[in-house]
Amino acid sequence: MENFVYESPTKIVFGKNQIETLKTLLQEKNVKRMLLVYGRKSIKKLGIYDAIQDIVSTLDIRLFEEANVRPNPELKSVKSGRKKAIDSGVDFILAVGGGSVIDCAKAIAFSVFKKEEKIWDVFLKNDVVSRAIPLGVVVTLAATGSETNGNTVISNDELREKRSIKNDHLIPEFAIIDPSYTLNVSKEQTIAGSIDIMMHVFEQYFSPTKRTETSDYMSIGVLQSVIENTERYLKGQNDYDTRANLSWASTIALNWILQQGKTGDWASHRLSYPPTSEHGLTHGYALSAIYPTWLKMALERNEEAMRPRLKTLGRTLFGEDDAEKTIEAIGGRFKAWGAPTSLSEYGVNLHQDQIHRYAKQVTRLGSIGNVFKIDRKLAETFYERA
Ligand code: NZQ
Ligand code: ZN
Repeated sequence: MENFVYESPTKIVFGKNQIETLKTLLQEKNVKRMLLVYGRKSIKKLGIYDAIQDIVSTLDIRLFEEANVRPNPELKSVKSGRKKAIDSGVDFILAVGGGSVIDCAKAIAFSVFKKEEKIWDVFLKNDVVSRAIPLGVVVTLAATGSETNGNTVISNDELREKRSIKNDHLIPEFAIIDPSYTLNVSKEQTIAGSIDIMMHVFEQYFSPTKRTETSDYMSIGVLQSVIENTERYLKGQNDYDTRANLSWASTIALNWILQQGKTGDWASHRLSYPPTSEHGLTHGYALSAIYPTWLKMALERNEEAMRPRLKTLGRTLFGEDDAEKTIEAIGGRFKAWGAPTSLSEYGVNLHQDQIHRYAKQVTRLGSIGNVFKIDRKLAETFYERA
């Protein structure tokens, strides 16, 4: 196990009707001018927009808005929100929505302190985040875990690129997680969310670091709950507790607790970005489409790291001792839930020039992954197989 320093400073307010606590949370932060960042419809359908207006009207807060943030949020929304935040002298940002809205809000929060044309430099790692406006979150989907971490993933349509950064200045001050908001999420989005949660766990579980049983068993526990509750949901048990377990798993899966003392991999997330930005894919499905290929290649290339962990995971989750069969069981589970397990099943058939371009894009800042290193040539092999 490796040394680590772990801090997860977000105040989590979890449960039914917890939007009521927003008033106190904003008072505690002494908010005066707030930018509300949200997506298209869900904030209003769920009644959150009205609840916020009511709360703000009882406080001495001026409200500004950045609306219509799309899934796979685009740099244009970041620039637009940045301008509003600067022009109106915003001192706090409240994000209400799924990962896309939260990520856009985080990017706005730091871009206020950068020149507009320099924002993308941060995603290219040519510049770093050293300050950001504080931010709070009301999360409405169980998927990304963005509500308690410092990650943001932004798409640049002009360059047809999607890139991520991680920075402690972007960790939200508070997160209101009311799982009842997720009760009417579509089946497609629910499954994509469950797969994303599982993928966050897998990215941290499979690791080159030896002897990390505590983290590993925690990871398997989260996976078990996600599988059980997704299957409850698919059998028609769409109740509060099913959704609450998925919401909590989503937060735990990416607040970095599962990666303490070990090195994660994260190549699969990166590999999913080029086809996502070119074809507008749903994040969870882009991941399910490529992950079986990553698992097979990882077992071929780092047997020592992969076989024992596949065995432990397979035994607990699928009653399966064999590493190859465990890989099949993971893909089989995704397929049974209606998710694609290859890019072609997702309707994405890559031409040779796309394979070259994607491989170049993902390895532009160097090789990716830690269980096995993926350089440009291996990335091409990966896309050919996926
Ligand atoms: O625009 P609205 O109306 O809000 O609709 C959204 C959107 O169309 C809808 N939705 C949200 N809450 C809902 C709801 N529909 C019904 N009921 C509700 N309660 O769902 C659609 C998808 O929303 P989105 O925010 O895109 O989904 P998700 O939470 O899966 O976020 C995906 C984005 O997060 C990034 C992904 O790359 C992708 O851009 N990620 C962020 C991470 C992070 N910051 O830690 C980690 C992840 O690995 C991921 O990369
Ligand atoms: Zn993800």
